[in-house]
Amino acid sequence: MSEIEAAVREIAEEMRVRPDRGAVATYIPELGRVDPGQFAIAVATKDGEVIAAGDCNTPFSIQSVSKVFTLTLALGMMGDVVWQRVGREPSGSPFNSIVQLEFEKGRPRNPFINAGAISVTDLILSKYQPREALGEILRFLQYLADDDAIYIDEAVAASEQRTGYSNRALANFMKAFGTVTGTVDYTLGVYFHHCAIAMTVRQLARAGSFLAHLGRDPVTGFSVVSAERARRINAVMLTCGHYDGSGEFAYRVGLPGKSGVGGGILAIAPGKASIAVWSPGLDASGNSHLGRIALEKLTQRMGWSVF
Ligand code: DON
Repeated sequence: MSEIEAAVREIAEEMRVRPDRGAVATYIPELGRVDPGQFAIAVATKDGEVIAAGDCNTPFSIQSVSKVFTLTLALGMMGDVVWQRVGREPSGSPFNSIVQLEFEKGRPRNPFINAGAISVTDLILSKYQPREALGEILRFLQYLADDDAIYIDEAVAASEQRTGYSNRALANFMKAFGTVTGTVDYTLGVYFHHCAIAMTVRQLARAGSFLAHLGRDPVTGFSVVSAERARRINAVMLTCGHYDGSGEFAYRVGLPGKSGVGGGILAIAPGKASIAVWSPGLDASGNSHLGRIALEKLTQRMGWSVF
């Protein structure tokens, strides 16, 4: 058994039995129904192998992890114009905060807080009709993960459509400032649906591989983005990927990472591996409690911190 395999198995077993599991998100009612007893981990290596353990074949709601892929798509479609819409500074605020938006004239601090991701989705909608945009995002993930089975969980999307009052506030506020230019309802519809994409940790680790290998898929050798862009996306993940928990994540794990309220985290060990973990219980910043602990253990053991 390889060292990665041994680490993955042992960490999964340790996490499976831990009593401290965090609390599942309930502000999206459908996510509140997920069993917090689950844990999964997958490591996609530079040889294209995916080593996984725990509930690694169970799809979960990727939520904000999807923002890495919408940012990648938007940068591919319109290049650095994206940075006129959103900044690339950590916010130091919760993911759904509205306070900075007024001071900063509707320009979100970064593309990973909700306001920033909604603005990026709106930018994608300047080139595509809503259905086409959603198709592009879903197909991009299917292509990256080399798996057509990836789908949108309509029940989760509908659940957030019904209850997403803060996001409606953010989108309307940005519309007033002109940093959302399209129809607010369409932008939010696409945003809620891309957050509701369901994937397994195996699929997610595989989909993130290009970020670990200078923008190239290590299996096919195809270039997804330039090396420079991959480095920059990783930089934003490191500084902003866990909202007001980004400093703590960098301190403990030492890797670029993006979390979602479904309990998933995608972490990138440049030159080494793309890692996905999932455990639905969250910490106070809305990031997976056991997911972060598992990543801390894995990076320590493998010596994968970028620092
Ligand atoms: O917009 C929301 O609130 C959710 N669809 C996504 C938020 C999220 O995943 C925050 N991450 N930890």
